[in-house]
Amino acid sequence: MTKKEIQFTYDEYDSIDDLDKNSAALLEKARHITSTAYAPYSNFQVGAVALLANGEIINGSNQENASYPVGICAERVLLSALSSLYPNTAIDTLAISYNNLNGESNRPVSPCGLCRQSLLEYESRLKHPIRIILSGMEGKVQVIANASSLLPMSFNSEDLQ
Ligand code: THU
Repeated sequence: MTKKEIQFTYDEYDSIDDLDKNSAALLEKARHITSTAYAPYSNFQVGAVALLANGEIINGSNQENASYPVGICAERVLLSALSSLYPNTAIDTLAISYNNLNGESNRPVSPCGLCRQSLLEYESRLKHPIRIILSGMEGKVQVIANASSLLPMSFNSEDLQ
């Protein structure tokens, strides 16, 4: 038997004010984009904004449905838009924020499992790390170097060979 270990480090900042200018601008946009969510069922509005390798900026927000499972997370709305608007374009940085209308929005929350899987596939397909910035409407900010860190021991296309 061998014990194996997976390590993962990320940066945490006290506030948006401690980020470099470009990252702060992207996070500010993600906070703003939360208002475009359609989330009447959860009241949890998520905004995602991506800076692409071609310099363009695109966004997505969660879109819910009375038939709950039909709803789509902000991150996957963004990825779908990206694949249609700018096919095969890498993401440099993705900022994700949320506004919880039922509670606090002052700490970073991480993408759900489905979104981690989708982000990982996009990152591997384009062979370009997606830097991820996480924060609520205020408070601490986490910066993660790539999507694969968020999904260790993932199932991926190589498993289908
Ligand atoms: N949600 C996202 O948009 N992204 C995530 O990574 C987590 C959850 C949305 C889905 C649903 O509309 C609401 O937040 C509450 O789960």
